[in-house]
Amino acid sequence: MKERLRQLEELRRQAQLGGGEDRVHAQHEKGKLTARERLELLLDERSFVEIDPFVTHRASEFGLAERKVLGDGVVTGWGRILGRPVCVFSQDFTVFGGSLSEAHAEKICKVMDLAMKTGCPIVGLNDSGGARIQEGVASLGGYAQIFLRNTLASGLIPQISAILGPCAGGAVYSPAITDFVYMVRGISYMFVTGPDVVRTVTHEEVDFESLGGAEVHATRSGVAHFACDSEAECFERIRELFRYIPQNNTEDPPRAPADDPPGRREEALLDIVPDNPNKPYDMHEVMRRVVDEGRFCEVHAEYARNILVGFAHLGGHTVGILANQPAHLAGVLDIDSSIKGARFVRFCDAFNIPLVTFEDVPGFLPGVGQEHGGIIKHGAKLLYAYCEATVPKLTVIVRKAYGGAYDVMS
Ligand code: HXC
Repeated sequence: MKERLRQLEELRRQAQLGGGEDRVHAQHEKGKLTARERLELLLDERSFVEIDPFVTHRASEFGLAERKVLGDGVVTGWGRILGRPVCVFSQDFTVFGGSLSEAHAEKICKVMDLAMKTGCPIVGLNDSGGARIQEGVASLGGYAQIFLRNTLASGLIPQISAILGPCAGGAVYSPAITDFVYMVRGISYMFVTGPDVVRTVTHEEVDFESLGGAEVHATRSGVAHFACDSEAECFERIRELFRYIPQNNTEDPPRAPADDPPGRREEALLDIVPDNPNKPYDMHEVMRRVVDEGRFCEVHAEYARNILVGFAHLGGHTVGILANQPAHLAGVLDIDSSIKGARFVRFCDAFNIPLVTFEDVPGFLPGVGQEHGGIIKHGAKLLYAYCEATVPKLTVIVRKAYGGAYDVMS
């Protein structure tokens, strides 16, 4: 018995080490944390419970039979954030670059199934080179199982992805189906095909950062909802999100303290909004004076800045806020802002979060580029999302609401 316990302890120690000390050192040298260090920062202290730590891959070709690593490149289980249960997985780049084998995929699917069964949010920490090349189609099949679960879970439980390394191929499509994507400047990259493939196929010279870095995805593509300066900040901001979102689509969002008197008057609002309808001002200033404690958790802050979306509390209740931003492009509606707004409205509608709209909009952006880019179909997404939303909707016309945008903004 003693010998068995000793062996088990030794196995546990090996599983903790992932790809080995040298690779852990290399991970730290790149300014990155390990899969387990990340979970410790993300979750409430000592709340993590691991499952399947001894799983290994089944493949035997290409020398894989001799290269089995306990856990197979992903740490899975559950823990707590702000005291609430969450399911988690954290990919381990020190094992085959965090690439996804059949067994690695099964571990992720198991924890996703658990999240669905128990009605818990799932948080995925992604650091993976995509499908494990040596496993070929078995690995692609693993991705298919994950994508299916992402899709079935969409709108039922919140799904959150942090990108914490160079994520390529299949490793970017699962996060793309989830509700919120976090990236960290300098270490996170997302692309379907990397710079080498791009160079070979299209002869374009591009580096990691300008092809798929945090800045690009947070400002231009809109793939990332949050860009952070460090991993610690990233985990802090994921935890902050849990102040606003519910466990699942059948529960209400958590209540915050309601110390802000509902009858409070903010005289400053009289001066912030100019009488002249063409004069810009920062809509953040308006919102901050209205919501509890002036606290606004902004989503997609750097993307399509002519519309603001994010969460706040009113009287301790979570609300989803959308607002035109006169300080950027005069607050017009265009393709990007319509897509951004529509997606946010749909999240709030799925998760019982009432919508408050601050409207100050000159209309849709005219132009050939917008028309050819499909402003009709993209603008319609925002219109459709507001129309189908069954959560309470309240609109404040802050200054002006012109043209079709009067209708589209709730
Ligand atoms: C197997 C992989 C791997 C992969 C990385 N590794 N990606 N092993 N399958 N997909 C291994 C490397 O061989 C290396 O092992 C170790 O992980 C670390 O990788 P490095 O290249 O040394 O690290 P780095 O320089 O940081 O570059 C990381 C990387 C690069 C950008 C991710 O490794 C890369 O480009 N990998 C291939 C990415 C790719 O083509 N993925 C697409 C898969 S197809 P050793 O032992 O040598 O140290 C796919 C399709 C799904 O995902 C489609 C779904 C719709």
